[in-house]
Amino acid sequence: MVDQPQPAPSHPAYPLRTRRLSLRPLTDRDIDVLLTYRADAEVCRYLPFEPMTRTDIEQHLASRWAGTWLTDEGQELRLGVELAATGELIGDVVLFWRSREHRGGEIGYTLHPGFQGHGYATEAVRAALGLGFDVLGLHRIVARVDERNEASARTARRLGMRQESRLVRNEIFKGEWRTRLDFAMLADEWRLAQRSRPE
Ligand SMILES: CC(C)(COP(=O)(O)OP(=O)(O)OC[C@H]1O[C@@H](n2cnc3c(N)ncnc32)[C@H](O)[C@@H]1OP(=O)(O)O)[C@@H](O)C(=O)NCCC(=O)NCCS
Repeated sequence: MVDQPQPAPSHPAYPLRTRRLSLRPLTDRDIDVLLTYRADAEVCRYLPFEPMTRTDIEQHLASRWAGTWLTDEGQELRLGVELAATGELIGDVVLFWRSREHRGGEIGYTLHPGFQGHGYATEAVRAALGLGFDVLGLHRIVARVDERNEASARTARRLGMRQESRLVRNEIFKGEWRTRLDFAMLADEWRLAQRSRPE
């Protein structure tokens, strides 16, 4: 028996708090900080866009990053990640609602290089998965990772996502064939992982 899709819930209260972080929608006041990492070629190496300009960021903030909740498939919820202790913006996470019928979503994550290696991406993405599964009622959330992006694959595994496939040289990415790893987590697996996770 397949659960019926849930009606879209109301908007979460921001900021979302985790142990060390605070997540909230991005605003124009974030442009300078967003530029410090989203214009960085190394950060963008495996992301599906070239290093961003100020104009790119302004345009995104006025369009696809402007949403504060998901009301239908095809939308994305982009949240800035702040260090709770200092209020510094250190990165952003995204939850895409891919399919209403199949209750499917996808996550993405980007951190400023100066804040990598502390588990902040794992902590922030866990909050985004919580929104997807517990608030939006999604059934399955995926992460798509370039095989060369080992840090990202480790983050997906650390979150408890299962690698479901390795698509060998399946798509042209930034001018060359790339091999993609697809990770997934189901709502049941999420709930089980939450129960067994030490606080
Ligand atoms: C992908 C990306 C977000 C991963 O950043 P990250 O900081 O390594 O991610 P995590 O939050 O999972 O941190 C885990 C690391 O912190 C370390 N760490 C330190 N303290 C920790 C703590 N308290 N809790 C958990 N991990 C901790 C872990 O040991 C781990 O290091 P390791 O991977 O060398 O073993 C980052 O590399 C990035 O922004 N890349 C550019 C954008 C990109 O490619 N995004 C992904 C597209 S699919």
